[in-house]
Amino acid sequence: MAFSIRTRLTFWYTTLLFVSLLAFGAIFSYSLLKIFIYRMDNQIISIADMMVHTVINPSGKLFIPRDFDIMLERFFGVRTAGSYIQVLDPHGGILAKSSNMEGITITVPAPTYRAAIGGATTYEVVRKVGKYPMRVVTKPIEHGGRLVAIVQVGTSLEGMDEIFNSLLYILIPGIIASVVVAGAVGWFLARKALKPVIEMTATARKITAENLDERIRADVPQDELGRLAETMNEMIERLEHSFKQIRQFTGDASHELKTPLTILKGEIEMALRSKDDVKYMKEVLASSIEEIDRMNYIVKSLLDLARMDVEKGTLAKHPVRLDKVVSERFEHLKKLAFDNGVRLDILERSPVTVLGDEVRLSQLVYNLIDNAIKYTPEGGRVEVSLQEKAPNAVFRVKDTGVGISADDLPFIFDRFYRVDKARTREVGGAGLGLSICMEIAEAHGGSIEAQSAPGAGSTFTATLPLAPSGAA
Ligand SMILES: Nc1ncnc2c1ncn2[C@@H]1O[C@H](COP(=O)(O)OP(=O)(O)O)[C@@H](O)[C@H]1O
Ligand SMILES: [Mg+2]
Repeated sequence: MAFSIRTRLTFWYTTLLFVSLLAFGAIFSYSLLKIFIYRMDNQIISIADMMVHTVINPSGKLFIPRDFDIMLERFFGVRTAGSYIQVLDPHGGILAKSSNMEGITITVPAPTYRAAIGGATTYEVVRKVGKYPMRVVTKPIEHGGRLVAIVQVGTSLEGMDEIFNSLLYILIPGIIASVVVAGAVGWFLARKALKPVIEMTATARKITAENLDERIRADVPQDELGRLAETMNEMIERLEHSFKQIRQFTGDASHELKTPLTILKGEIEMALRSKDDVKYMKEVLASSIEEIDRMNYIVKSLLDLARMDVEKGTLAKHPVRLDKVVSERFEHLKKLAFDNGVRLDILERSPVTVLGDEVRLSQLVYNLIDNAIKYTPEGGRVEVSLQEKAPNAVFRVKDTGVGISADDLPFIFDRFYRVDKARTREVGGAGLGLSICMEIAEAHGGSIEAQSAPGAGSTFTATLPLAPSGAA
């Protein structure tokens, strides 16, 4: 059976309270009893001591006066009232009793008698004397090592019974009342404390992909539950952000693919209507291939991004000579640079090794140089450099191209983001190149930075951690 936290909380601490109050009551009563007994024992032993000196004369003979208790009180000032005194001979026969003991005999249990013969004093509670139990001390009287008599002094526990009964009457209802009151108050307090949890549950239940803008309210933001609410809110916010991104991404991707399809369709329709103009049809087919290439490129980029999302953290890592990768890509792109009338140079190429995936790293190098060439007008320059700056390898591509305005700069690494859609469409980008580069750099534990000003050219810097020495 599962009880609510509220029930359990209330149950546990009322039980705890009950048990501790009981324990307190018991310890308190026991200590009180001990104190009473201690005082009684002091009183009865002092009378017994007196008796020892009274009933024996210097020659060691027993001498018991009549009404010896009255005498005791009168001559020695010993308060004997309420005490029962009894003197026994060494065999246990009664020699004398105090005047208040008519019809009462204090029994002497066998072990006590044996102890007395052995010379030891015994304190004990004797039950079967009159109405109430009695505290009795049994003390032997010896003379010259010989047992002469046994003195017993008892006092009734009557008063104490009464005290402990009243104590019980006060303690038990008191404890029950405290537990009931504490339980009731606790039950309400627990409800108050747990109210935010109930609210949180209700809010969390309401939240779906459609209303991720909902937030959990917390009345006391600093306490544990407040912090829980805050943490959950942060989580919902991240979800909301991811959902938005996915939606945006899907929208952008469909749009990017739809444009070439629309163009393709239009062109093919025109070609169909052109009757048998073979030359025109060939033109259309050539242009169609361009659009198909473009779609191909977009689909491939999307696949790359999707794969990298999946691969994140599990990227296979091998030592890669980054300088060799740069040389290779450089050779490939030389022709493109030449065709565009852009000068492409390598300024520095330190031999560095990084841990990673060679294909991905090659893609990163390619994309950055490719952008630099594409966004640099004829007559411009692109300079590539690879430096070792322990613990990192720094790959830099600097161009004298069109540059990027400060308004656009923060977004160029976003998926599908292009500064000038119309113009960049001509050079074939879909705005995915830099986001792929960023993913690659991050998957390798590095980063990419862009510096640019319109008209002054751009510099892209990729920083990747070097492979630990010995890895190559
Ligand atoms: N070297 C550069 N010089 C100027 N603008 C650049 C450069 N590199 C990237 N950009 C801008 O950043 C945008 C995003 O780049 P990228 O993600 O590679 O997409 P694209 O497919 O358009 O090349 C580009 O459309 C371009 O406007
Ligand atoms: Mg690009």
